Amino acid sequence: MTVIEIDGLRKSYGSGKAVDGVSLRVERGEIFGIAGPNGAGKTTIVECASGSRRRDGGILRVLGLDPWDDRRELLQRIGVQLQEAALPDAIKVGEALRMYASLYDRPADWRKLMDEWGLADRKGTRFARLSGGWKQRLFIALALVGNPEVVFLDELTTGLDPSARRMTWGLIRDLRERGVTVVLVTHFMDEAEALCDRIAIVDRGRVVAEGGPRELIEKGRSDSLENAYFALTGRETA
Ligand SMILES: Nc1ncnc2c1ncn2[C@@H]1O[C@H](COP(=O)(O)OP(=O)(O)OP(=O)(O)O)[C@@H](O)[C@H]1O
Ligand SMILES: [Mg+2]
Repeated sequence: MTVIEIDGLRKSYGSGKAVDGVSLRVERGEIFGIAGPNGAGKTTIVECASGSRRRDGGILRVLGLDPWDDRRELLQRIGVQLQEAALPDAIKVGEALRMYASLYDRPADWRKLMDEWGLADRKGTRFARLSGGWKQRLFIALALVGNPEVVFLDELTTGLDPSARRMTWGLIRDLRERGVTVVLVTHFMDEAEALCDRIAIVDRGRVVAEGGPRELIEKGRSDSLENAYFALTGRETA
């Protein structure tokens, strides 16, 4: 079952084309990666698909809904971790999770999520006092608190230490096993290779290559996904 359909998506900011005709399909239960250079348009794609930004053109369907027109309904069924999220400085970890859970019709058990993501020891810590990596973990947990069918994670493990990254990979695989569809933006090719069923490489607002990790390595005539990325974007030293 296709859960995300993107056809000819376009979005400009002023005269700059951020997304210039992107088409993608994501099937239920996939971990779908979006990679590409800084400024390629990845966050804009995720924002348009998750209903936080209005597209200029193209067709978008997520769980059969239009992410902009039907965003109230969609927001109950998806989870979003945006790249530049923020919370009030004074809010405590436990309060943030409880508050977010209260926004959903069928929330997950926020205490269980807090444990899973190793946040229980920091339940009473205020947001402003968390280190970058702990903020990141909190944002991932918040993206999952609504029991989403689809979750969008923008720069999933940026700022996480190696063991937190590995733990995160395991928890993302658990989500897939439960049938949750995961779209993740990442700059880490080891992460994409380890985690993603398929990956779209985006550059200058367009998809330049798409496929499973093995397929992309072959397309780039490379020995690793990282080298394939350089070959396919032509950006090794850009
Ligand atoms: N709010 C905005 N106003 C104006 N221009 C924007 C805005 N957001 C993004 N852009 C521009 O749109 C283009 C795509 O940006 P986007 O954030 O989608 O890229 P990205 O692939 O997520 O990059 P990164 O890897 O650095 O996160 C860039 O040229 C960026 O400068
Ligand atoms: Mg981005």
